[in-house]
Amino acid sequence: MKSSIYDCVILPLNKVHNRAGNITIVEGNKNVPFDIKRVYYLYDIPGGEDRGGHAHKELHQLIVAASGSFDVLLDDGINKKVVTLNRPNYGLLVVPGIWRELMEFSSGAICLVLASEVYLETDYLREYESFITLKNRT
Ligand code: TYD
Repeated sequence: MKSSIYDCVILPLNKVHNRAGNITIVEGNKNVPFDIKRVYYLYDIPGGEDRGGHAHKELHQLIVAASGSFDVLLDDGINKKVVTLNRPNYGLLVVPGIWRELMEFSSGAICLVLASEVYLETDYLREYESFITLKNRT
């Protein structure tokens, strides 16, 4: 839980290009610094809706705008920053112990998430106050 927003960096991903389009390949422990145990994606997000609004205790994630664009607000309890994702060959690494909110989704945006662990509700901190309490304790 000692992490800071400065540990959350943009990782450039490869892009294999030809006249028929592009392909980006992501492999666990190679292009991302963790084993990929789960993939999920957010889509059909109604205009003006926000997602996220939680932190994780152990989970590492790579967040990619597979289509369209959106903003990710990162907050470590001291500092905050907003990262705009709008290219499928760049991913935002989000380390454990970071409060995140996803907002400003463009129409048709697809938010692809590669995750280091299977889904575990007990890994979530869904109350901002408990997140801050845990951050201050560690
Ligand atoms: P949540 O992570 O809270 O969504 P977001 O942060 O995008 O707003 O997940 C929404 C719901 O989906 C919640 O009830 C838990 C469920 N869910 C799973 O069952 N498995 C998963 O891998 C994920 C990511 C969510």
